[in-house]
This record gives sequence, C-alpha cells and structure tokens, in this order.
Amino acid sequence: MSLQDKYRIINFKECGDERGNLVVAEGERDVPFAIQRIFYIYGSDATVVRGQHANLTSEFVLINVSGTSKVKITDGNETEIILLDKPRMGLYLSNMLWKDMYDFSADSVLLVLASTHYDEHEYIRDYDQYVKLMKEQ
Ligand code: TYD
Repeated sequence: MSLQDKYRIINFKECGDERGNLVVAEGERDVPFAIQRIFYIYGSDATVVRGQHANLTSEFVLINVSGTSKVKITDGNETEIILLDKPRMGLYLSNMLWKDMYDFSADSVLLVLASTHYDEHEYIRDYDQYVKLMKEQ
C-alpha cells in the first residue's frame, strides 16, 4: 500500500450564512470512523515539533479550527507535508503512519478526532522500530 492510500484530505460541509460559519464533521459519515475521542493542541509555537510517533490501531482526522500548522507524514518510504490552513479542511490519517506536527501559528488550535480511546501501548515512539515493523508488514 503506498502513502497516497494512507491519508486523504476531507472538505467538510460548511453551513455558513450571514450569522457566520458552521462546519459539520459527523462520525462514520464525513469522518470515516466512529469518533471515540477528541483532543486539541494549542499554545505550541513555531519551534515545537509534536507527534513523532505512529499508532498501531488509531486513525485520526486533524483539523486546524484556528490558525495553521503543518503535518509531515511518512510510511518509512515516501514522505508528504500537508498544510492545514482552513477550518473546514480535515486530514485523515490511517493507522501505522509516522507523523510530525510543526510550524504552529500563534493562533493555532489543532483539533484531532480519533477512532480509539487513549492507549499508550499502541504508540510507537521509536522511528527505527517503526521502520522495522513496516518492513515486516
Ligand atoms: P503526546 O502523544 O506527546 O502528544 P502529541 O501527539 O501532540 O505530541 O501526548 C502528550 C501527553 O498527553 C502525554 O502525557 C499523553 C497525554 N495524552 C492523553 O492522556 N490522552 C490523549 O488522548 C493524548 C493524545 C495524549
């Protein structure tokens, strides 16, 4: 499976009117999994690199609901950098992708929707171990 098959950009429905904008993300509809958890990251400045891990089972959708950030993903072979710069833009990431989040703008609020409850045991935080696991697949 190539890197292209492991992520995708989602354009969420926007129900804006003269009162402002409203973006909808429904689990198992716009988001390709049942949402078990949300978390959000803010107050990380432009020098910080977050993530630096892969997940054995969790899938995610990342949305910069405010500000901007970049996400670098790799499968140990190919690499892509995606700029998150619109509140209606989602980045779907399958499991077993190595990810770095960085270049956070001062107003960045990065919302993450996850397919699982938190379990530290499904995190791979050693890049060499990740590459080894990918080669075994
Ligand atoms: P971490 O995985 O380092 O965040 P990031 O992926 O943004 O670099 O998590 C930071 C801390 O938060 C760590 O102590 C684990 C905790 N945490 C939870 O308790 N639940 C969660 O759902 C997440 C994502 C993190």
